[in-house]
Amino acid sequence: SFSEAEVQSARGAWEKIYVDAEDNGTTVLVRMFTEHPDTKSYFSHFKGMDSAEEMKQSDQIRGHGKRVFTAINDMVQHLDNSEAFLGIVNPLGKKHATQLKIDPKNFRVICDIILQLMEEKFGGDCKASFEKVTNEICTHLNNVYK
Ligand code: HEM
Repeated sequence: SFSEAEVQSARGAWEKIYVDAEDNGTTVLVRMFTEHPDTKSYFSHFKGMDSAEEMKQSDQIRGHGKRVFTAINDMVQHLDNSEAFLGIVNPLGKKHATQLKIDPKNFRVICDIILQLMEEKFGGDCKASFEKVTNEICTHLNNVYK
């Protein structure tokens, strides 16, 4: 669980990247698809997945980037209440496990890209403040598979 100070600094770090949720969410997805091309297989129904330039312009990827960031934002609002946090992360994990059949190793992949982008744009303290949140998200998403 998170101390009050950890909650505050994690929220401060997240706000910086969430201000531009669609742009930053899109950057994260395009990096995941480019650096880990196997992740594209889950999105075979998305058009324009052949190059990073195409992907950045894709309304489908932009919309999905926004959706992923909105879900993380909902989790970040409930770091101080584990029941509410799990109420968001468990159904999302269940959907990824049973319906979407996502290999759970990819949760760490996308979280590490988010942390990397935070460090690039806002520095090491921003990244450090958010690491525990990504660990919590990955732990609970992975637990759904057990
Ligand atoms: C759908 C969030 C990781 C693949 C979704 C949705 C959300 C979401 C909110 C929409 C769910 C709905 O429609 O009810 C997240 C979060 C993640 C994460 C917060 C990690 C922090 C991943 C990863 C992959 C993935 C790592 C695959 C590599 C998908 C796919 C869909 C989806 C294929 C359906 C997309 C569509 O057809 O529109 N995700 N996701 N997700 N997610 Fe994730």
